[in-house]
Amino acid sequence: MSNTPNTTPEPGTQTSFGFRAVPETERQGLVNQVFSSVASRYDLMNDLMSGGLHRLWKSEFVAMLGAPRGDSPFKLLDVAGGTGDIAIRYAESSGPNATAVLADISPEMLAEGRTKVAARGLGSRIRLTQGNAEALPFPDRTFDAYTIAFGIRNVTHIDAALREAHRVLKIGGRFLCLEFSECQVPLLDRLYDFHSFEVIPRLGKLTTGDAESYQYLVESIRRFPNQEKFAAMIRDAGFERVSVRNLTGGIAAIHSGWKL
Ligand SMILES: C[S@@+](CC[C@H](N)C(=O)[O-])C[C@H]1O[C@@H](n2cnc3c(N)ncnc32)[C@H](O)[C@@H]1O
Repeated sequence: MSNTPNTTPEPGTQTSFGFRAVPETERQGLVNQVFSSVASRYDLMNDLMSGGLHRLWKSEFVAMLGAPRGDSPFKLLDVAGGTGDIAIRYAESSGPNATAVLADISPEMLAEGRTKVAARGLGSRIRLTQGNAEALPFPDRTFDAYTIAFGIRNVTHIDAALREAHRVLKIGGRFLCLEFSECQVPLLDRLYDFHSFEVIPRLGKLTTGDAESYQYLVESIRRFPNQEKFAAMIRDAGFERVSVRNLTGGIAAIHSGWKL
């Protein structure tokens, strides 16, 4: 595979894990502990924490893909695909030759995803595999589309993940990212702050006994670049016609780009 990025950090480099500074070499391990800990209750917590909103956001995200409903072949790569929400929505709303590879770094999240995909009878259309967004195990120019939903803020080197997205897409392929972003509506931003820092960690503790993981999830949202800065990073990775669509006042946003 060409152009695989060198993501080996300088010894001693610090980075952020939520609001904490940690050695860069340890960050992915800490992220993996979070998802290993929450995997079995991840779907339930998503519904509780977002009041079901994440379902609407994900449906809108998958609709933007415009996958073929007829017989045309289409290959999606869903990175950080976790328990399969994006890949499943895509497979259920597209034609029989639209297939997906779901790649995730966490064996526990993949195990949950496999169970869901099998229960829906989608095993022949969705393949699940372990992989790191920063060094994807796929050849150049393999996929028609690349999606990543609520995944990229967990990645240590976002620039490396974006370059990998560009590398594995075919010419004419589309990059779509759904991620929490900067709320741009006054008052709603205050409510959102309260919900994030007061409600979510407590909900996490009550339902899973694990407030810390949910504290990380909330803090990592605040560390993530806002709409404009993230769009600039996508352009820097080589994507063109980059655009942003805010969801619920910017609490979440969909970034789109094309490999032309
Ligand atoms: C918040 S979940 C999102 C899951 C799913 N996309 C969804 O929208 O429900 C984040 C996922 O990112 C995965 N992840 C974290 N770091 C990763 C990396 N470097 N490469 C691939 N997946 C990663 C985690 O294992 C977890 O499954």
